[in-house]
Amino acid sequence: MADLSVDFVGMYFPNPFMLASAPPTRTAEMIKRAFATGWGGAVTKTIALDPTQNLQPRLQPLRYRKRNVGMENVELISQLTIEDWQREIANVKSAYPDRPLWASIMAAPVREEWQRLVEAIQETGIDAFELNVSCPHGMPGKAMGAFVGQNAKLTGEVVSWVKKIAKVPIMVKLTPNVTDIAFVAQAAKENGADALCAINTVLGIISVDLDTLTPLPTVGGVSTYGGYSGPGIKPIALRCVAQIAKATGLPVCGLGGLSTWEDAVEFMAVGAGTVQVGTAVMWKGCGIIEELVQGLSNYLDSKGFTNLKSVIGAALPKIVEFPEMPLTSRVRASVDDTCNGCLLCVTACADGGFQAITGVRGEIVEINGTKCDGCGLCAMVCPMNSITMVPR
Ligand SMILES: Cc1cc2nc3c(=O)[nH]c(=O)nc-3n(C[C@H](O)[C@H](O)[C@H](O)COP(=O)(O)O)c2cc1C
Repeated sequence: MADLSVDFVGMYFPNPFMLASAPPTRTAEMIKRAFATGWGGAVTKTIALDPTQNLQPRLQPLRYRKRNVGMENVELISQLTIEDWQREIANVKSAYPDRPLWASIMAAPVREEWQRLVEAIQETGIDAFELNVSCPHGMPGKAMGAFVGQNAKLTGEVVSWVKKIAKVPIMVKLTPNVTDIAFVAQAAKENGADALCAINTVLGIISVDLDTLTPLPTVGGVSTYGGYSGPGIKPIALRCVAQIAKATGLPVCGLGGLSTWEDAVEFMAVGAGTVQVGTAVMWKGCGIIEELVQGLSNYLDSKGFTNLKSVIGAALPKIVEFPEMPLTSRVRASVDDTCNGCLLCVTACADGGFQAITGVRGEIVEINGTKCDGCGLCAMVCPMNSITMVPR
């Protein structure tokens, strides 16, 4: 069986799956329960000098055909004090001394505040810090979270203050809500970050109640912009992970919409050495680790890979800038005899393509290879997977 263990910033992880800083890491008891099910590591819910008070309610799903496909939260950071967290961390570390436990910390861009936090927490036996400079809602109003991470200079300053006194590795958790995440990542690297983590949630409005015409989640009749997470944000997360891995060469921890072992392979292929999961654990419980580990293990075996080194970063050399993409690679659509003549491709090609497909309901469609411009729309809408793009 393939070896799922990874070395990430000099630390041994039995598998690459970490619990993200989110409700599942709210207390020692919850983290220990997750470790018992086999999680490779965990990041605490974000700790600050002052605990926060949360809105109620603060979660709102995005549904497609009655299934949850995304979620917005307007939750703030931990409701526990530093003293509480000193006890919680010591509690987890005494039960699981060898399992990486990282503390997520956040403060305003004031040197003394960051250093006070680091000093108070690193006494507890914590293995590393994750600097939360990326929370997109609530905290930026207090000059915290994305207020710092949306400014490369401030991010660099914060990293340098923490680096000066931290006795354990530091990882910077970045926000996707910036024009150029690689620029911020570079500032973190230049000031001493040992690793990077991406992404925190995407700022959004998840939906609007059609009866009251109020955005959701509604709290006392009003709403605000919140953090969008879950499967829908994975493409943004993969892009961010690839960009920061390529720009800095630092170890990267990837997250954002990861809910299956296949997602984990994708994150690792674009450069993630470890991955985190938030929303999927909230929806399905920490028991999903069994499927994640088993699926990843089976995949490696099926590919003949003995460990994750064959996957991590494997896709990066294949990501190029647009001008380097080959215009000489030409394809056209081709249909096989599994086509059921539903004509969805005819409609799509007529109104969204090049009018290259004709057909009669119930019969195999005909594709005009000369008119076809090789866009791939027909293959996308075909419910039978009867259409493939073949070289011209
Ligand atoms: C309800 C909720 C609370 C969160 N709280 C924190 C937090 O305290 N600190 C933090 O760094 N990220 C926090 N996050 C962001 C997650 O750690 C993660 O970056 C984001 O949700 C994307 O991953 P996911 O799609 O797996 O949830 C929170 C996310 C959710 C859904």
